[in-house]
Amino acid sequence: MDSTTRPLAVIAAFAASLAVGLLVTFWLIGGFGGVTKPAAIGGPFQLTDQSGQTVTDKNLLGKPTIIFFGFTHCPDVCPTSLFEISEVLRAMGPDAGKVNAYFISVDPERDTTAAMKDYLSSFDPTLKGLTGTPEEIAKVISAYRVYAKKVPLKDGDYTMDHTALIYLMDRNGKFVRPFDLKRKPEESAADLKRYL
Ligand code: NI
Repeated sequence: MDSTTRPLAVIAAFAASLAVGLLVTFWLIGGFGGVTKPAAIGGPFQLTDQSGQTVTDKNLLGKPTIIFFGFTHCPDVCPTSLFEISEVLRAMGPDAGKVNAYFISVDPERDTTAAMKDYLSSFDPTLKGLTGTPEEIAKVISAYRVYAKKVPLKDGDYTMDHTALIYLMDRNGKFVRPFDLKRKPEESAADLKRYL
């Protein structure tokens, strides 16, 4: 690909990922209800947080949880979402300790525990960055029906195309709905507090 076609390809890839995201969102919120009943979102997983502690699906019990899948090399969507999640957690005040906020890597190859720890130091300390072996990540991605695909870059490097949905899980670890970050942090915080 030469330098004139590359921007077009990038735009096309971006448009495609947007379309996939919208489709997945629509599907997750039950837009196809009545045709096929979607199976439950979520399920067993075992991962490691940025401090080396094991986190499993059992950690979801007793607290509402917001989960976001992404990767530390993400140029914009992930850092923006993590910033917005951090703002919501800040707006939660002392109640921030009563929720789980997980950033789960879709790029276990590069996102080691150390890389997650370094990356998350820029965001709210409530946020836990979970990573694992490629098998462990494949399992959680499948359980949450996350779309994640490696996209090679011209320089030999790669990026990840991925679902940018925020999952809201209730105190029983059940998926409620996608969590809306496109509003005032105080509104999101009030919404989240209803699930405490
Ligand atoms: Ni991203």
